[in-house]
Amino acid sequence: MRGIILSGGHATRLRPCTKVTSKQLLPVYNRPMIYYPLNTLIKAGIKEILIIVAPEQAGDYLNLLGSGEEMGVKFTYEIQDEPKGLAQAFILAENFIDKEDVVMILGDNIFEDDLSNEINSFKKGGKIFAKEVSDPERFGIVEFDENNKVISIEEKPAKPKSNYCVTGLYIYDNKVVQMAKNLKPSARGEIEITDINNEYLKLNELEVAMVEGEWIDAGTFDSLLKAQNLAKERLQEKLVI
Ligand code: G1P
Repeated sequence: MRGIILSGGHATRLRPCTKVTSKQLLPVYNRPMIYYPLNTLIKAGIKEILIIVAPEQAGDYLNLLGSGEEMGVKFTYEIQDEPKGLAQAFILAENFIDKEDVVMILGDNIFEDDLSNEINSFKKGGKIFAKEVSDPERFGIVEFDENNKVISIEEKPAKPKSNYCVTGLYIYDNKVVQMAKNLKPSARGEIEITDINNEYLKLNELEVAMVEGEWIDAGTFDSLLKAQNLAKERLQEKLVI
């Protein structure tokens, strides 16, 4: 299994802090933000990790993380010139993924859970992770029927059909590359990971697991502050890097 950390974007919601640096390099308590999602992958035994970054900060990522040797893994870097949606990562990563399955984590997503078993038990199709939130308009949202069967995923719905959001960890088999290539951009001009999830759902190959512990998308000032406190109080002993 190959790993991807998507760490691009302009992070305009965190200006001016992100005017000269990348959101995923901002400190979350005592480490740069990206260390937390990286920890999730490295703990699960993923050895080959592609880091997708914006061109302006590519040098900073290289300086910070280097080859990966210090952490016992191998990093490869890819530039995302313009953020055109999360699913674009699988197109940029085509050569890197090769014939393998892939786990992608967003560089601003912080999970308290150890997801190693979930990652290592993956067989085929797609597997995503949901968590109940109080601000569902901000996320991809899972719609369930009365038997708790997933019937759709909607990206940032104005009228959310549940409070269960899709978190930023996605595991897919090799089909994902071709699926991403076939997608048409959404109304906001992005190729959406939500469309990939709906494709797997149509094939009856989408598994939705629940996140038990705390999960934070640290993309706003308030969630970043929450992440800082979580990192200090509960994450330190879980870190391997
Ligand atoms: C992205 C996805 C969304 C998902 C979220 C998790 O949103 O588009 O489906 O729920 O990540 O962090 P973004 O953070 O890019 O607004």
